[in-house]
Parts: sequence; structure tokens; C-alpha cells
Amino acid sequence: MGDAVHFSELGLVNTREMFRRAVGGGYAIPAYNFNNLEQLQAIITACAETASPVIVQVSKGARDYANQTMLRYMAMGAVQMAREMGSDIPISLHLDHGDSFELCQSCVDSGFSSVMIDGSHLPYADNVALTRQVVEYAHRFDVTVEGELGVLAGIEDEVSAEHSTYTKPEEVEDFVKKTGVDSLAISIGTSHGAYKFKLKEGESVPPLRFDILAECEKRLPGFPIVLHGASSVVQEYVELINAYGGRMEGAVGVPEEQLRRAAASAVCKINIDSDGRLAVTARVREYLAKNPGEFDPRKYLGAARKELVKLIKHKNEAVLGSAGKA
Ligand code: G3H
Ligand code: 13P
Ligand code: ZN
Repeated sequence: MGDAVHFSELGLVNTREMFRRAVGGGYAIPAYNFNNLEQLQAIITACAETASPVIVQVSKGARDYANQTMLRYMAMGAVQMAREMGSDIPISLHLDHGDSFELCQSCVDSGFSSVMIDGSHLPYADNVALTRQVVEYAHRFDVTVEGELGVLAGIEDEVSAEHSTYTKPEEVEDFVKKTGVDSLAISIGTSHGAYKFKLKEGESVPPLRFDILAECEKRLPGFPIVLHGASSVVQEYVELINAYGGRMEGAVGVPEEQLRRAAASAVCKINIDSDGRLAVTARVREYLAKNPGEFDPRKYLGAARKELVKLIKHKNEAVLGSAGKA
């Protein structure tokens, strides 16, 4: 590990002020996952062009893929790129689903401005203890921390919602008080990946548990709530993927209308990864199928990046309501 660097040296900000404004503002900050250059360029371009604050986030797997030193400079480059576009949008670099104190510590030390410690699968007391430990370290450097209560269903589950352990509203106050977290991810029926609900013929997506969200909001007034697993699984992309050699039958996500409703509430961070992956895959498949002789990655990755910009602008403008809030 190289020398420690503070996020402010990279031009990044933590999530505190972003969330403070979003909670009362009726919109949510977008948190887009990335692993590579084209995804990061697209996120920054779209958010600068829509004047949206943004959280760019990396999972443990993404960090291993991209290399932690490379990531530090990519984040710094992202800030510079936005400024050169004439934009001063706030940008946070966030660790998504941190699974240990050591990983969170390493991210704080390498310039992340925000970290998630996901102890949601642990017994309650262990989740509290681990989260508290991360908060104590991160807050020394003014890095904000997201915790999680309740387990989101995994993509491998047969019927996602049935396997979810929804957040227990009676625990949220105690958890926030004991850990000192800055935001809390909750489980209200979303799940990760492109197969969120297994629907029978004619069935529609079940609504999210807005009653649980409302209970959490009542117990934690004005406190930032985070929604994971919030991709809509854009059907236009699924159809393109299937039309050009892919096979993604039954891929379905959270309808935009439900995300709009969540964004208007105490949900002030909405995580989106799968929709970006689908946009990239759809355009790469289409491009290569239509141009079989092409072997310049700039061509097919360029097409993917262009689609990603379009998708993110749409999310910011028409779903999360973050456009113009920078
Ligand atoms: O919540 C998980 C994110 O979509 C990241 O997924 O671990 O495959 O990078 P990953
Ligand atoms: P999706 O798989 O729905 O995009 O969720 C992403 C996520 O929650 C990342 O933490
Ligand atoms: Zn997640």
C-alpha cells in the first residue's frame, strides 16, 4: 500500500452535505458503481451535464479489478475532468459493501471519502460492534460511513422477496445511536442483480415495502436512508442483449415509479450498478454483431459509453430528481 492520502487532496467530498440537502429536498443522490475508465467517464459526463451531485462507488471486487492505486488517480482524474467541463458538482468516492474493518481502513487511507461497512448478515450485536469500529476510524478522517440493517435477497434466490429479511424498524434507532453511522441502508424488497423478482405469466412486480420505510423514517426523522438493489433492469437493454446473442430471460427490476416515490422520501442515496452493466453489454453486443470486422475497442466501448451517458442522464433527470441539485 502506498502513502496514505486524504480524500480532500483528491478534490473529493464526503456525503454529509449532499445528504443533508437531499433528505429535505425530495430527491436522492445517485450512487453509480464503476470498474473501468469508460464507466467513470460516462458517470462524470452525465452528472456534470445534468448538474447532479454524485457518488461513484466501487465494490471490493471492483477495487481488486481496477487496482487500488489506479483507482486513486482515476478519482482524482474524474474530479479534474468535471472541473474542465466547467462543472463544480460534488463528487464522493465510496466503498460499496465493505466486508471488514481492514478493507474500510485501507479505503480511508487511500483516499475514499465514504465507506460502507456491511455487517447486515451478522448477528445484531456483532453488526453494531463492527460498524462502530469502522465509524471510529473513519470519522477521525472525516470520512462518512454507511451501515446496513436487514438482508437483501441474493440473485441466486428462487423468489427474491421471500428470502429477504426486511429491516426491523424497531432496531434502527438503537443501531444508529450505538454505531454513529452517517446513513443507513435498509431492506424493503429490492435485491441485487438483474433477476430481482421471479414472476409467473401475467404477474407484475410486487411493490416495495413502503410501510417499513415509513416506520424507519418515523423513528429516524431527517436521517439519510439508502436503497440498494435499485436498478430497474431496463427492458430495452434486455431485449437488445437477447436479440444479439445473449440470453437473459426473466430479467426484471424495480419500476421507475417506485424509485421516484422512494427518492421523494427519506431515501437519499440510490445504488445503481446492474442497469449500467446492461447498457454496456447491450451496446457492445449490438456493435460487434453489426460490425463483425471491427476490432478496435474504442469503437464498441465508445458505443457503450455513449449509451451509459444517456441512461445516467435519464436517471438523474426523470427518476432520482438529482439533476440541477449540485
Ligand atoms: O452490490 C453489489 C454491486 O452491484 C457490485 O457488484 O461485487 O460484482 O462488483 P460486484
Ligand atoms: P443493482 O444490482 O440493482 O444495480 O444494485 C446495485 C447495488 O445495490 C450496489 O450496492
Ligand atoms: Zn448493494
